Amino acid sequence: MAKTKMARENWGSKFGFILAAAGSAIGLGNIWKFPYIAGENGGAAFIFVYLICIAIIGLPVLIGEILLGRTTQRNPVGAFKKLSKSKFWISVGFLGVLAGFIILSFYVVIAGWSLGYIWEAISGSFYKFSPTYSSATHFNTLISNVAWNLGFTLGFLLLTMFFVFAGVQKGIEKGSKILMPLLFIILIILAIKGLTMNGSEKGISFLLNPKWRSLHGTSVLIALGHAFFTLSLGMGAMLTYGSYLRKDNNLFSSSTQIVFLDTLIALIAGIAIFTAVFATGQKTDVGPGLIFHTLPVVFTKMSGGYYFSILFFFLLTIAALTSAISLLEVVVSYFVDEKGWKRHNAVIVFGGVTFLIAMPSSLSFNVLSDLHFFGKTFFDLADFLASNIMLPLGGMLISIFIAWVWGFDKALVELKQGAENIFTDKPYIISAWKIFIKYFAPVLIFLVLLNSLGIL
Ligand code: TRP
Repeated sequence: MAKTKMARENWGSKFGFILAAAGSAIGLGNIWKFPYIAGENGGAAFIFVYLICIAIIGLPVLIGEILLGRTTQRNPVGAFKKLSKSKFWISVGFLGVLAGFIILSFYVVIAGWSLGYIWEAISGSFYKFSPTYSSATHFNTLISNVAWNLGFTLGFLLLTMFFVFAGVQKGIEKGSKILMPLLFIILIILAIKGLTMNGSEKGISFLLNPKWRSLHGTSVLIALGHAFFTLSLGMGAMLTYGSYLRKDNNLFSSSTQIVFLDTLIALIAGIAIFTAVFATGQKTDVGPGLIFHTLPVVFTKMSGGYYFSILFFFLLTIAALTSAISLLEVVVSYFVDEKGWKRHNAVIVFGGVTFLIAMPSSLSFNVLSDLHFFGKTFFDLADFLASNIMLPLGGMLISIFIAWVWGFDKALVELKQGAENIFTDKPYIISAWKIFIKYFAPVLIFLVLLNSLGIL
């Protein structure tokens, strides 16, 4: 094989790539966020819209991002540099790296809570709740404790750094091959438990019977925004993972498998959570507190809940870990490719910087809770800026770049490698991809952006 000047790392196998990319996609978004936004927006009705968004926007943009990475064999900044001389497009790459940093900085805070809750589960804290000392009070006591918050954030970040430090094949790929099957097994166990509880059918009907009246116009935009977040799109994480691929990978089949796994896990998480929540008579529309307030109570009301609670928070932590790894990898790959840094140094320096930026996010729940920027705490601002502004903006620009700047002629030459059979047997798939990337993605994502900005 022809060697490039700098030996760049590669995935060891197609399966390894798919697990790593699915690991990036499957995260807090699937297990923490998806169930509660589905709960707030009409259950099945929301899921229906979400599936459409995944199919017509998520999958096409995912293929596009991985393609950009595979073609250029570079990080987001390097990828745009290679395909365009324009400063504007190179800055889109920067926007991605920056968004990765910001997402990581608040992601590790919630992931840290999850890590901390493994310990809460093991120590049996959930059984101490009483009418006067509720799960919500317990949660609030924990997050207002600075040492608890920062300690677990740091612990989680160190875990993340460990895998990225070890490299693409030996760290990220190997880790994904262990963690992802484990995640799947735990989730199946939890779903079986949920399904076999008395009264679980109410949870199932909640997930299957659409309540169209709870589905508002903004629910559609929430679904679209989430389709983006859950597939790790819009900031070059999938681009970076794609850059470690060889050209013989069939991007259509890989991307479809990644999307399938991500969607499957979100749905099974929904089943596991809602069957148990209904069976124990808890509320579903409680918002972000669903996991940390409601579930601890749910566990105390089920047989074997002690063990299931440990498994659950372990699952949540694994899901968050493989996603955080992909976020840190984007930043690291940028400094390795563009600035010639050694991987190890980049991981240590930017792991440290991430902790510094994570601190104000973590402290937003205690000592800095009164500090507001534009009416938001530091945590909320970081989340809003990255998830609601930078990701849709990045995703829209990436689609525009592929369709209108780089151009389909060149994109298709690249896409064909490894996927010749689709070009000859199913050319309509190629046409559909073109239409989705060229028109649907930019326009619909633009609407999400307007909605985020409060204009729509
Ligand atoms: N997809 C992950 C989740 O659902 C989060 C995530 C990881 C992410 N990497 C990303 C989101 C890159 C946006 C961009 O939790």
